[in-house]
Amino acid sequence: MKEFDFGMVGLGVMGRNLLLNMADHGFSVAGLDLDPEKAASLEKEASEEHTIKGTTSAQEFVSLLQKPRAIMLLVPAGKPVDAVINSLLPYLEEGDIVVDGGNSYFPDTNRRVEELDAKGIHFFGMGISGGEKGARFGPSMMPGGNESAYERLRPIFEAIAAKVNGEPCVTYLGSGSAGNYVKMVHNGIEYAIMELIAEMYDLLKRGYGVSDAKIQQLFEDWNNSELASFLLEITADILKKEDEVTGKGLLLNYISDTAKAKGTGKWTSQNAMDIQAPVPAIDAAVQMRDISKYKEERVKAAKSLTWEAPAEDTDVDTLAATLKDAFYFSMINIYAQGMAQLTIASKEYNYGLNLEEVAKIWRGGCIIRAACLEDFRKAYQKDQHLPNLLLDETLGASLVATQTAARNAVKMTVDKGIPASVLMSAVAYFDSYRSEILPTNLIQAQRDFFGAHKYERTDKEGIFHTEWNS
Ligand code: 6PG
Repeated sequence: MKEFDFGMVGLGVMGRNLLLNMADHGFSVAGLDLDPEKAASLEKEASEEHTIKGTTSAQEFVSLLQKPRAIMLLVPAGKPVDAVINSLLPYLEEGDIVVDGGNSYFPDTNRRVEELDAKGIHFFGMGISGGEKGARFGPSMMPGGNESAYERLRPIFEAIAAKVNGEPCVTYLGSGSAGNYVKMVHNGIEYAIMELIAEMYDLLKRGYGVSDAKIQQLFEDWNNSELASFLLEITADILKKEDEVTGKGLLLNYISDTAKAKGTGKWTSQNAMDIQAPVPAIDAAVQMRDISKYKEERVKAAKSLTWEAPAEDTDVDTLAATLKDAFYFSMINIYAQGMAQLTIASKEYNYGLNLEEVAKIWRGGCIIRAACLEDFRKAYQKDQHLPNLLLDETLGASLVATQTAARNAVKMTVDKGIPASVLMSAVAYFDSYRSEILPTNLIQAQRDFFGAHKYERTDKEGIFHTEWNS
């Protein structure tokens, strides 16, 4: 009987597409799904050159695989992952590898690594980005786990990953939950960039009355510049899609403005607070999705909390030039926050992350792929201990050059009464980060005043307390 190179549990679109991608690259693959239809349709989708087998039996599935076995799970995060692991365990042997390819919460991955390690099985948490198409034709993959066990996976993952200048968008990232953590922050950045684009769209459309067609053109132009990115590209496409239901105007204009979220952005913010990594742009993006949920209240408030924006004549081209630079400025600030969080988390959790490698594998395949990732890669190549991208000379100089535009864009949103939390937070972050002196001395004094929490002085060593009332 043929021994298969790789096994997949969960034959939903992502799992199926990844397997077909592997089969395209000459690997023999087996899939397990409890749904007989999914197991059968996998084989139906295969071409003549593919060696693919689908099954509904865990025992048969495991017995098909070449040892040490390499098995990926693509099932919903949470309990289903544990359930699948438990269903496979009776058939697995020492040295086998289980890769969780879902958006699992990283502490769950740490627990699973430990539990399976006790049985001699290597557990990997691997973020996969790029959606259905990415899975089929080249995703970006973020694996973390046992470094030597990764060698069994490497040839398969490198073959199926997206390529940028011939380099695969996958690399071993670090131990334990490193892969899930990197993917979590990827998604946090994803939230913030999406919100930034939405704010630009809102300012142009509601603030300045620019037409959808003109905004579409602008975003397409921006995407052909240093702002080139997957998220701008798809936004330009979204702004072209006509509504098929009514046949009147853009589909976008019929979509409800209440946003949903699966939770990875929230985890990024939550954990950033735990490890004291400031990521205000990501926080703002998560909060904007939350605010969007209070539709009824917003409708009411719109009637009472009115603001008449001052009328003015603005030339659209001048406006667009300002917003383009403001976009660049904010985008760099967003990535800088996410990358700094990774740097802090790597120390906190001993991941041993190499940020140059992270930038490298985010250049293609993933949702936050963008031209600027190459600049980030170069920045970390120059200085692998760079604590924040804002301190890179080249990036710093471009931020200094574009800050006027970002500040002006913030003023415009305030004048027009258009919410722009991410844009505003980018400017505020930049100003906080470049402030040699912050007013936190006053906060220390206040804490000492009401709670005797003590403070340090700038002119001598020691811890001090003052009786402020006396
Ligand atoms: C990706 C995406 C993917 C998924 C998000 C959606 O990298 O391919 O990030 O993982 O689309 O998790 O997240 P929300 O539902 O939270 O917006």
